[in-house]
Amino acid sequence: MPIEGDSQTLAHFLSEGIIHGDAKDLLACLPQNSIDLFFTSPPYADARSYSRIHPDHYVEWFLPFAEEMFAATKDSGSLIVNIKNRVAKQGPLKGQRHPYVYELVLALQRMGWRWIETYIWAKPNAVPGKFGPRTKDSFEYVYHFARGVKPYFDLEAVRVPYKADFAEIARRKADRLGRRNTKAGFGRDRTKTYLLGGADPGNVVTVPQTYNQYRGVAHTAAMPEGLAEFFIKMACPEGGIVIDPFAGGGTTIVVARRLGRRAAGFEIHEQFVEEARRRIAENSAMGIPGYLFKIS
Ligand SMILES: C[S@@+](CC[C@H](N)C(=O)[O-])C[C@H]1O[C@@H](n2cnc3c(N)ncnc32)[C@H](O)[C@@H]1O
Repeated sequence: MPIEGDSQTLAHFLSEGIIHGDAKDLLACLPQNSIDLFFTSPPYADARSYSRIHPDHYVEWFLPFAEEMFAATKDSGSLIVNIKNRVAKQGPLKGQRHPYVYELVLALQRMGWRWIETYIWAKPNAVPGKFGPRTKDSFEYVYHFARGVKPYFDLEAVRVPYKADFAEIARRKADRLGRRNTKAGFGRDRTKTYLLGGADPGNVVTVPQTYNQYRGVAHTAAMPEGLAEFFIKMACPEGGIVIDPFAGGGTTIVVARRLGRRAAGFEIHEQFVEEARRRIAENSAMGIPGYLFKIS
């Protein structure tokens, strides 16, 4: 049994990669002020057979995890949560969007988590289905919360190629009168826009939902590796520590290690633990670093 909140336990978690158990107990084993990033996709309300959490009780279910994560997060650290709306199946809201996601965001903010940004994960290849009087679900939320006022944030790591062509980039660079006021009185110097090496990606992150994206991934709700990659690069320094308390098939751990971060995750269901273990082993076998890092 791990000793509460000590760095040796954390080192053990990081070397194991995936730990079988209830995140509530395992989060309590993390030392305070030790984690750079909690990145996770918890079970969505009422959605999957592996964890049925009624949307009316979702906030009270999630808050104990959030409290443990708050205690373990560094002052510069973050909690990033991927979550999705759902339609209420019964009760007075039947047929409408249930507000549990928004209730959760407000509850986390009240707890002390600083609500930094709401990202939209756009899924260009979302599958059609029977959604009632609405179009198909083609986005999910990714909420970024920070522990302190100066969270680690690396925009450079997530810049994307400029859309403008070479001629336009050259023209802007040569423009000596970049800042032109409009009639409204505002103007921006656009000559420097293209000196940064890439464009700000914005808060809509487009990543295809990769059904069976990883050879042999059996988890029914595995997230695409590209989504994990974006947020880990953005919110955790190299060599920093990433924990996924609802690790599923281990996507966060595999991607974080590949990116040179130290990483571990918790998972309550044995079959997903096995899957995550296999993926971690495959990636380690490919010589991908991460598990080799030592606790400083
Ligand atoms: C949405 S899935 C995560 C999928 C994961 N991001 C991936 O790419 O494979 C949520 C996971 O949380 C697990 N889970 C639910 N309650 C848990 C708990 N109390 N402790 C640890 N894991 C839990 C579920 O078994 C499920 O695998």
